[in-house]
Amino acid sequence: MAHAVELAALGPVYGPNPRVGCVLLAPEPDEGAWSNHVGAPRGGPAPDDVGDARPRRVIGEGYHRGAGTPHAEIDALHDARRRGIDPRGATAVVTLEPCSHTGRTPPCAEGLAAAGIGHVVYAVTDPNRLAAGGAEVLRTRGIRVTHAPHERASALNDVWATAVRRGAPFVTLKVATTLDGRVAAADGTSRWITGDLARAHAHEVRRRVDAIIVGTGTVAADDPALTARNADGALAGHQPLRVVVGTREVPAGARLRGPGGELVHLATHDVHVVLAELGGREIRHVLIEGGPTLATAFLRADVVDELHAYTAPLVLGAGAPVVGDLGVDTLAAAAQWRTVHVERLGDDVLMIARRHRPRTARDAADADSDADADATARADAGMGTATALTDSVGNGPPTASETVRARKEPA
Ligand SMILES: NC(=O)c1ccc[n+]([C@@H]2O[C@H](COP(=O)([O-])OP(=O)(O)OC[C@H]3O[C@@H](n4cnc5c(N)ncnc54)[C@H](OP(=O)(O)O)[C@@H]3O)[C@@H](O)[C@H]2O)c1
Repeated sequence: MAHAVELAALGPVYGPNPRVGCVLLAPEPDEGAWSNHVGAPRGGPAPDDVGDARPRRVIGEGYHRGAGTPHAEIDALHDARRRGIDPRGATAVVTLEPCSHTGRTPPCAEGLAAAGIGHVVYAVTDPNRLAAGGAEVLRTRGIRVTHAPHERASALNDVWATAVRRGAPFVTLKVATTLDGRVAAADGTSRWITGDLARAHAHEVRRRVDAIIVGTGTVAADDPALTARNADGALAGHQPLRVVVGTREVPAGARLRGPGGELVHLATHDVHVVLAELGGREIRHVLIEGGPTLATAFLRADVVDELHAYTAPLVLGAGAPVVGDLGVDTLAAAAQWRTVHVERLGDDVLMIARRHRPRTARDAADADSDADADATARADAGMGTATALTDSVGNGPPTASETVRARKEPA
């Protein structure tokens, strides 16, 4: 499963679909399986993580490369066939429950059954009610199915899973402030509060999200392009949707209308309308880069999941504060956040915090069913627990060395 998770992590962080990896293990007896096939397998013996007494050979591996491309299981079946191996009787180790519905591609559960797979081991139950039920489909086809929870497999898609369960995007709010919490000076000047490394980091985050949201106030004040750029300043291959919220028009000559992601203007002040509209477009992760008005509206509605606070060693004493009145009149009434990452970026400091919300009944039920499955799965599958990821932006925020490589980039 650890190798399946590594494969899953090769998939794109953005987009409507989860990152999924799949490893096919030769049926037992291993030697017999090999004697019938042409060509040596690329993989060595797989670690004993599917409950078998002996190491098993990897006969195929695959991962999902984004919406419209084959799912991990089908990619792994193709890989086995490319190697000249018939996957009949093999064990499929997959990070997410195989899907049971026809979306952009046919259902994987059917694909695995048609290929004659004998045993499916999966780590995470599909939170997508449309696609879930693959395990049941496989069982009705007489295929052995093992649910083997794996922390890292869950962590890899936690943003996606949150968005899918909720039917609305995961929300990250980015703010860049002075030490005294100002986002602009008294005269309104606000660009480049933070330094090159902090801005490069922010571009790295843009490359990982599906949409960036600003209010019309930021468009008027800063005329941002809201593009995702690579370290060399070139436009990144993936450009998030550019969303402007507010009743004022986006000026004809705005940089937002230039090259980059699709521009969507939502003439509303209702954050729930904004999130419903974006959820309807299968947007899983939004990054709010607006000014204090938008930040206040999203925080007040308590829809922010993660906070990226870049703080510069600068004290202004006057100017717009990062956030307005949230209706909190005593400390005990303040929303709870947990720090998941702290990083120095040149002279600035980035702190990433996750909103800490009590578990809903649905979350508790999901967690309990995972815990129940856990004991069975460990006995059945002999799994080890991997280290959990600590952040929401897929592979995690770039490391200091990654950000050091980045150059000064435009807003
Ligand atoms: N340091 C930073 O991180 C950062 C980031 C972005 C901006 N800024 C600075 O922030 C300043 C702009 O602040 P801002 O607050 O005007 O920007 P904003 O929050 O991006 O835009 C505010 C405008 O959005 C519309 N709007 C959308 N949803 C709303 C809601 N729920 N309630 C009320 N209005 C809503 C309103 O315009 P309509 O009248 O059109 O409806 C409102 O005037 C500039 O100085 C900019 O440079 C700083």
